[in-house]
Parts: sequence; C-alpha cells; structure tokens
Amino acid sequence: MDTVPKFDDLFISHFADLVRWRRDVRRFRREPISSELLETIINFASLSPSVGYSQPWRFVCVRNPNLRSAVRNNFLACNVAALESYEDERAAHYAKLKLAGLDEAPEHLAVFCDMETQVGHGLGRQTMPEMLEYSAVISVHTLWLVARAYGLGVGWVSILEPAEIKKILGAPSGWKLIAYLCIGYPEEEHLDPELSRNAWERYRKQEILIR
Ligand SMILES: Cc1cc2nc3c(=O)[nH]c(=O)nc-3n(C[C@H](O)[C@H](O)[C@H](O)COP(=O)(O)O)c2cc1C
Repeated sequence: MDTVPKFDDLFISHFADLVRWRRDVRRFRREPISSELLETIINFASLSPSVGYSQPWRFVCVRNPNLRSAVRNNFLACNVAALESYEDERAAHYAKLKLAGLDEAPEHLAVFCDMETQVGHGLGRQTMPEMLEYSAVISVHTLWLVARAYGLGVGWVSILEPAEIKKILGAPSGWKLIAYLCIGYPEEEHLDPELSRNAWERYRKQEILIR
C-alpha cells in the first residue's frame, strides 16, 4: 500500500514560491540538460489530469539542427508579420521585445495533442470536444512547474504557424500543435513577468472571483 503523503505548511509555502517564481523564460544559459532530467519532467507532465483519462499529450524532442533552424525561420517570419500588425509606439516597443529563446535554449520540445486518440472512449468530450486540447495544455503547465522546481526555465513560443511546424517535424496528421517550448537553465530569475518589467503589459487583474 502506498503511504498517503502529508503536505505540511512548509511544503505549501515552498509550493507557493514555486508558483510565484515560475516564469516564462527567453534568456537561457547554453549549458545542456541531461536526458534523464528531460525525461523526468516529461514523466511528471504525463501525470496531469486528462478528459476521460485520454492522456492525449505527445512530446517531441527537437534536437536536429536543421529542424530547429526551420522552426526558427518560421518564428522570425511570424514575428515580422506580428510586428506589422502594430503601429507607431506599440510597434517600436514590440520590436524591442525578446519573444523566444530558440537560439540559446539547449532543448526544444513540441507538445502535440493526439486528436484521434480513442483512449478514454470519448468520455467527457461529447458536448465539449475541446477538452482534449485543454488536457494537453494542462500537461504543459505541469511540466512548466516541475521544470522550475528542478531549476529549469521554460519559454512558450506561440509566434509560429502550427501547420508549418507540423510539416517541419513530420507530425502525424491527427496531431495538433499545442505548444512549442524552449527549455534550459535560466540566465536570470525574476518574481515579475518580463512583459510587465518591460512595460508591455502591467495590468494585473485583481477581482478574479465573481460571487
Ligand atoms: C499559451 C501561451 C503562449 C505564449 N506564447 C509566448 C510567445 O510566443 N512568446 C513569448 O515571449 N511569451 C509567450 N508566452 C509567455 C507569456 O508572455 C507569459 O506567460 C506572460 O507574459 C506572463 O509571464 P510569466 O509566464 O513569466 O508569468 C506564452 C504564454 C502562454 C501561456
């Protein structure tokens, strides 16, 4: 029989620190991550909840330099297009932001959702099919927190064309791109988001609970 753990106050205060100090990281040291550690955080991520216990997440480790460079080119093109959607000061500000650490991060991890999985027998997604993707998203957040606990930083890159990334990586047709993650040891640690620090968005909504 497994012993049921007791999460004491000290653990809870450490967990609160973990949540508060988790950051989206774009500035990485180039130091490699061991394969064991990468597997560990992916294994933790696969303990995430999923609709009907469908476990639709699929993790693709992208190490091939040619594939990485193709992803990077796609990011650069998408970022130029994004820049063009802003005007004046906003555009100037956007141009200064660092929005990915694709060049420095020792690991790239693409997270897909297997849209055709039969695991879970459709439970919980008859009326809300999007629950499958939500499940894969949760696995990303679990990975993000676990990675931080191991001293790693994760940066989520969404300035990409999903169809193009799928093609570059040769992903099966039934898989949907959920996240493209840069992972590595962070160069700096911060308690506040980089976009807030850089005054792109300072807003922090306070009234989040509606009664
Ligand atoms: C779904 C999702 C997509 C994101 N895509 C990007 C991205 O393409 N580039 C980027 O710099 N940050 C990206 N981020 C990070 C957010 O900008 C970041 O989470 C937010 O500014 C708050 O900062 P924090 O994560 O450090 O708290 C993404 C975050 C999420 C959840």
